[in-house]
Amino acid sequence: MADGAPDLLFSTRDLLIGTATAALQIEGGDRNNNWYDWAQLPGTIADGSTPLRATDHWNRWREDTELMAQLGLQTYRLSVEWSRIEPRPGEIDTAALDRYRQELSAIREAGIVPLVSLHHFSHPSWFQGLGGWTSPHAPDLFLRLTETVVEALGDLVTDWVTINEPNVYAVQAHLFGDGPPGDRNWGSVRATLRQMAIAHCRAYHRIHELQPEAKVGFAHHARVFAPLDGRNPLHRAASTLDRALFQDLLADAMLGGRFPRLLGRQPVDVTPGPHYDYVGLNYYSRSAVRGLDDGTFPGASVNDLGWEVHPAGLVEVARDLYRRYPAPIWVTENGTADAADAFRARFVHEHLAAMVASGLPFERYYHWCFVDNWEWSDGEEPRFGIVALDYETQERTVRDSGRFLAAVICDGGVSRASYEEFVAHQTYPVGP
Ligand code: BGC
Repeated sequence: MADGAPDLLFSTRDLLIGTATAALQIEGGDRNNNWYDWAQLPGTIADGSTPLRATDHWNRWREDTELMAQLGLQTYRLSVEWSRIEPRPGEIDTAALDRYRQELSAIREAGIVPLVSLHHFSHPSWFQGLGGWTSPHAPDLFLRLTETVVEALGDLVTDWVTINEPNVYAVQAHLFGDGPPGDRNWGSVRATLRQMAIAHCRAYHRIHELQPEAKVGFAHHARVFAPLDGRNPLHRAASTLDRALFQDLLADAMLGGRFPRLLGRQPVDVTPGPHYDYVGLNYYSRSAVRGLDDGTFPGASVNDLGWEVHPAGLVEVARDLYRRYPAPIWVTENGTADAADAFRARFVHEHLAAMVASGLPFERYYHWCFVDNWEWSDGEEPRFGIVALDYETQERTVRDSGRFLAAVICDGGVSRASYEEFVAHQTYPVGP
C-alpha cells in the first residue's frame, strides 16, 4: 500500500497474542509428581516416553524466552509446578521459586505479559497419595500453594489461571482412566469436580486479597457437542447431556459460584456470585455425538490426532459462555497436532478470523503451544508447536506457522501478503 501499512484482511489489534504451555509438558527433570509416577506404569503412555526429558525448558528457559521475544509474542501462558515448589508437604523449595522468578523477570523484560497457571494436570506425588483432588483437604492444600506462589511472585505476575481444565482432568483421572491415578468411578469424578470448583472459588478471593489488581480466572475446556444425526432423538439427547455434564455444570460452579445439585450441596465457604475477571476458554474441536461415545462427522477436516478442525465452534462456545458469564474472553488455549506444519497457519488464520468477526469481546489468544511438548498419554508423538523440537538434540526450529503468527502480531492482523505466503496453499486432511 502507498503509505507502507500492510493491506489487512482483518485486524487483530484488539487482541494480545501469544502461546501457552504447562510446566510438566516442557520442563523435564522432575520425578516427584503424579504424571512421572503414572508414566512408570507399563502401557500408560502411547510411545513409552516419560515427562523426564520433555523440552528441557527447566534449563533452556533463556533460549526459549529469547525466541519468544524474537517472534514478537505479546503474552505467554505458563504454569508453575507444584511438585517443585512444595516437594514435601509444607516444605517450600525457595530455589524453585527463584528459578521461576528469574524466568518471569526475563519474560517481563522482553515486554511479554505473563499469565501463570497454578495447576495444570500435575501435582506432587504426596498430594496424589492423600487422594489428590478427591480429598476434602485438597482445596486447603491448593490454597496454601496459591498463597505461597502469589506472595513470592506477585510483584512479577498479576494475571492468574487457578486450575486448567477441571473437566478434562477429572475424566482422564477418574472416568477414562488415561491419566493418573486411573481409578474409574463416578464418585471420584464428582468429588474431583467439586473440590476443584471449591478450590478455584476460594483461590479467586484469596488472590484478590493478596493482590487487589489481579486478574483471575480458570481455563475451561469447552467443545461443541453436536448430534451426529440431527433427526435422531438419542443423538440429540446425548449431545445435550454431554454438554451439561462436561462443561455447563462446572461453569456454573466455577464462574458463578453456584453449585448444581450434581456437584453436591452449596459449600459453606462459597457464596454465589462472579468468581472470574475474564472467561478463560480452551477450545480445540467439535464432537459428533451418537450415544455414549462420540467421533467426527464423515468427511470432516481433521488433525493428526483425528480431532475435527471446526473454527466456528470457538465462537459458538464463547458466545454461550459470554451470555451467561459476561466478561472479556481470553482464549487460554487453541491449537492443533500437525507434525508436517501443513495446515497450522490456516488453523490459526481461521480461528482468529472467526473471533474477530464475532463481535464478542475477545481480549487474548494463546496458541497451544510454543515448542512441541510432551502430550500426556500421547507422549512425544503429537506435534502442537509453532516451533519444532528435535527431542534427541533439543534443537528448536521455528515453523512457518510460527513465522505466520509473528507476522500477524507485527502487522496487527492478517495481511494479504502473509495470507498468500502462509495460508492460501494449505488444506486440511479429511477424516473417515
Ligand atoms: C491441555 C494441554 C494439552 C492440549 C492438547 C489441553 O486439553 O490443557 O495440556 O497439551 O489440550 O492435547
